[in-house]
Amino acid sequence: MEPARKPHSRSRSSRENGGVTHAWYSNPSARSWISPKPVADTRAFHRALPGYAPTRLINAPTLAAELGVAHVVVKEESLRIGLPAFKILGASYAISRALSARLGSDEALSLEQLHGKLDLTIVAATDGNHGRAVAHVARLVGLPARIHVPADITTEAKQAIAGEGAELVVLDEPYDAVVRHATAVAESLGEKGLLVQDSSWPGYEDVPGWIVEGYSTLFSEADEQLAAMGLPPATLVTAPSGVGALAEAALDHYRRGASDAPTVLVVEPEGAPCIIESLHAGERVDVEIGFSIMKGLNCGVVSPGAWPTLRDGTDASIVVAEKAAAEAVRDLQSLGIDSGPCGASSLAAVRALCADPARRADAGVDEHSVLVLLSTESLVANPIDL
Ligand SMILES: Cc1ncc(COP(=O)(O)O)c(C=O)c1O
Repeated sequence: MEPARKPHSRSRSSRENGGVTHAWYSNPSARSWISPKPVADTRAFHRALPGYAPTRLINAPTLAAELGVAHVVVKEESLRIGLPAFKILGASYAISRALSARLGSDEALSLEQLHGKLDLTIVAATDGNHGRAVAHVARLVGLPARIHVPADITTEAKQAIAGEGAELVVLDEPYDAVVRHATAVAESLGEKGLLVQDSSWPGYEDVPGWIVEGYSTLFSEADEQLAAMGLPPATLVTAPSGVGALAEAALDHYRRGASDAPTVLVVEPEGAPCIIESLHAGERVDVEIGFSIMKGLNCGVVSPGAWPTLRDGTDASIVVAEKAAAEAVRDLQSLGIDSGPCGASSLAAVRALCADPARRADAGVDEHSVLVLLSTESLVANPIDL
């Protein structure tokens, strides 16, 4: 197993250009790119999980009026299978597939079928939501979990992971270094360890691939909910992004050759713009990261496994300021939508897009458009000073 950093990436500080990073990327021709991967269908697996229900898709007409589009809907991932973020969709499916594979099955066995069948420790690195989801699923299948976190994540996030019964390992390192540490720990455990990480690299592709497939449930639900609400298909879907696995899942879902394929808007914090920098460079570029209230997006290294899909399928990418994300949290809260800073980055992003006529044109957004904002986490579990 290779460490998560590099290979095939070059390193650059996001502050080397006098603090300037790219604020916008557009490639409308990528909308007609077709994902070569088989269509994922993980809904039957998720439906069988205790506590599964589709998350809410909330119509927000005041936001549509503000942004000058026909409809804005928010997919609110504040309560997903009992947890306050979408990440359990990926963690549950990937853990099931990985444990099933060790039992010789290439299907996703149910968590009950897997319970007590194996003796190993599940290992992960996280900036919060992923690790909690991994710890939760480990508990459901009766296995110990060792979850590594950077010291600067919130106390609430640390407590939530420990509260799932996992061993919490706090490291005074940035997220990307914590991933390397967890990788080494899993390696040292050999067959007695299972690394569950959403970044992939050569030799470590299966688990991250299953995580990406698991996220497809979210997009299938949103499509069905739009139709059930009598609304047209999405014109634009936001993807708040850290290492790029969620954006990869969005592109795998929406890039299937349809003539009306939506724009997939990759959203990153200004201080962690690894995807937008890589898109402009045409190759993966690592960036140095600092503090962000958008903890789950604060990553400086694009997942190598996600990169080919992001490179070929991304038609729009934008960065959002910390203040704009905080303001979006407040505004969504006042609309009764529970959205943490990562989730609210979606609103900050479409605000920055819609205010600029050239960006609107690039993204194919007009007064008839339907914008789907993925609000990927709850504010309650990811609090900020408002
Ligand atoms: C709440 C939230 N939103 C979005 C993301 C971004 O996902 P990815 O790292 O797959 O780009 C994360 C990742 O941890 C997250 O926790």
